Amino acid sequence: MNDDLKFPDGFIWGSATSGHQIEGHNKHSNWWHWELATETQPNSGKAVDYWNRFEEDHALMAEMGLQAFRIGIEWARIEPRQGEFDLEAVARYREIFQSLEKHGIKICLTLHHWVVPQWAAEKGGWRNSEMVDWFQEYVRFAVQQFGEFPFQWITLNEPMVAALAGYLSGDFPPGRRNYFELRKVVKNMLKAHAGAYRIIHDFDAEAMVGIAMAYPDLQTWGSRGFAGWYERTVAALGKRFVFQAWDESVRTGKLHPLYGSGSVQGLENSVDFCGVNYYFRMTLRFSLKHWKTWFIDQEATPAGVDKNDFGWQIWPEGIRTILSCVWNRFGKPIVITENGIADRADEKRAAYITEHLKQIFQCLENGIPVLGYYHWSFIDNFEWKEGFDMQFGLVEVDPEDPELKRRPRKSSETYSRIIKNNGLCP
Ligand code: BGC
Repeated sequence: MNDDLKFPDGFIWGSATSGHQIEGHNKHSNWWHWELATETQPNSGKAVDYWNRFEEDHALMAEMGLQAFRIGIEWARIEPRQGEFDLEAVARYREIFQSLEKHGIKICLTLHHWVVPQWAAEKGGWRNSEMVDWFQEYVRFAVQQFGEFPFQWITLNEPMVAALAGYLSGDFPPGRRNYFELRKVVKNMLKAHAGAYRIIHDFDAEAMVGIAMAYPDLQTWGSRGFAGWYERTVAALGKRFVFQAWDESVRTGKLHPLYGSGSVQGLENSVDFCGVNYYFRMTLRFSLKHWKTWFIDQEATPAGVDKNDFGWQIWPEGIRTILSCVWNRFGKPIVITENGIADRADEKRAAYITEHLKQIFQCLENGIPVLGYYHWSFIDNFEWKEGFDMQFGLVEVDPEDPELKRRPRKSSETYSRIIKNNGLCP
């Protein structure tokens, strides 16, 4: 393949993070409480203290040439008690946005990245239908306070991941395992998104609003006989249950039968772009040993395929499969809202970026309008179940270092060069 790939003028090069994963001390949140109450769970603690060190981080971003930053704000910080908004936190977020502007970095704002205030969690969180109103109150407030800053908005980050991990597998707070609750949660999240979409558009009719959805490339091992049939069935059900059902609801405005019935006001076509978070391929393989995961070995990896520190398959072609699928489904512009690699040694990150961009470039050539790319993550951060062991950052931070010194990794130079060239060069 030709290595000299120029991206379209105006293509946005950025990086992404979320509030809870980098700010530190998000004390009024459900995750903070869950971290303290769950023995096997690492604590986010001070994280990388972005809350106090943002200026230094933005200067580094500017040095790297980043044009945009996907940043999350924390509802629990802004509304630590129901109906009480913390004006100091608001002032700090405004300083953060102003500092980004000063450095010429555009803002893509995520309103909700899995974390809710503890007061809302105590009242049932997303399984309580009142959550929809509470969320909208928060969004209305956030839009009034910060609406002038973002050029792109994300209402919800990976809602299906949070819903499934929180209410079916029990891995995330509130650690429930109940399909009927899951149905309520998904329905409430869809309503919350639709409400947020309307609130943002009432503020700015031209706003660009999307949802960041997780789309792994789900494939099957290709076993023979019953095992093969089983793998195909699980893959088809997984795709439908996890991705298509949500997407179809957003496209049509009608709840998918898996999650309810009837229409949701304002939901139909309520995205101006599709946010795609892509990390890996999963090759589902039938295995009697894996009875806990419905007889599927999710980590099976075909020979010759490399993995990241998490054990996830590195599979750049997958992003092309996903982008065509999302484009066919919605026909809307696409933003890569996350793509990245856990690679502590920084041996694979540069190639990971380059290879994924080659695939994205092919999609552009095939007429799929991809508007931008946000690398996950700008900086090492708190991983939800693994703490600081999995390192995704273009910038390295040792969480044990009292100074939390920032060290740009070598791969950040590759990314900088790509940005400068608006594409890949030989
Ligand atoms: C999430 C991030 C997370 C990343 C790597 C994404 O699905 O949105 O919060 O850090 O995966 O695990």
